[in-house]
Amino acid sequence: PQKIIIDTDPGQDDAVAILLALASPELDVLGITAVAGNVPLALTERNARIVCELAGRPDIGVRAGCDAPMSRPLVTAEHVHGKTGLDGPELPEPTMPLAEGHAVDWIVETLRREPAGSVILCPLGPLTNIATAFARALDVVERVQAIVLMGGAYFEVGNITPAAEFNIYVDPDAAAAVFRCGRPITVLPLDVTHKALATKARVDAFRAMGTRVGDMVAAWTDFFERFDKEKYGSEGAPLHDPLVIAWLLKPDLFSGRHINVEIETGSDLTLGMTVADWWRVTDRAPNATFIGDVDAEGFYALLTERLARL
Ligand code: BDR
Ligand code: CA
Repeated sequence: PQKIIIDTDPGQDDAVAILLALASPELDVLGITAVAGNVPLALTERNARIVCELAGRPDIGVRAGCDAPMSRPLVTAEHVHGKTGLDGPELPEPTMPLAEGHAVDWIVETLRREPAGSVILCPLGPLTNIATAFARALDVVERVQAIVLMGGAYFEVGNITPAAEFNIYVDPDAAAAVFRCGRPITVLPLDVTHKALATKARVDAFRAMGTRVGDMVAAWTDFFERFDKEKYGSEGAPLHDPLVIAWLLKPDLFSGRHINVEIETGSDLTLGMTVADWWRVTDRAPNATFIGDVDAEGFYALLTERLARL
């Protein structure tokens, strides 16, 4: 199976992404690293452990990483995810312990230990842990097989400011470093997540599984929906982060373009904007594959089939 590291700030949609990965035999989740983002670090690491236990995988190492962006104060998103980050269903306190050591050290050690080119990094939150690992240990960068992340936007532009998507906005300095790292990067931006809405029929399908996981995922997506319905008037919320895992499992469901993407770090007005050269109007070298479209029916069929295994 493909070895992956999930770097995450759960978040209901992060939780579903973790469940999808743990339900998929094609993937070997080496560990989960938590970062501050949707909610503070003490909650994201706790939430990651809750999700592993829900999946019946308390053996997965969950480690806590950076509690704030590289050089800015933390911006959180309780207005979307609720106070705990996993608001919606009643959740038990996790009993599995947090694994020892700082997540950034573990990422560095793991990339050095595993064969070069065998590990894909899957960031689902701000890129602080990943950029800090790269800054601390330059030698690990070339050992990364690829980075597949949720973040940014092109046509759909911003969800936290008019110009920026949340994950990139929270730590634009980290994002800029990651986009310049030279390894293959695939980006699942808002443009594609907004084409994969959890409509009522799709949420009903989660509930119809008749399992604890199905009920939780349905309750999370229901909770998530309040925000998006009010904001975008859409039927159903975008389930952003699971698209990263779905891309690893079934890339044929997606299409995109290999283009140049630069991150704005200077301007107050457009801080964290992913300046994506979709129409190739510059001669800047392509550094990322920006995904623009998804077969949403195929994605939800995959997600439902996999979650039913848990
Ligand atoms: C991203 O921000 C978070 O709120 C979600 O978990 C997702 O990773 C969407 O902009
Ligand atoms: Ca996230």
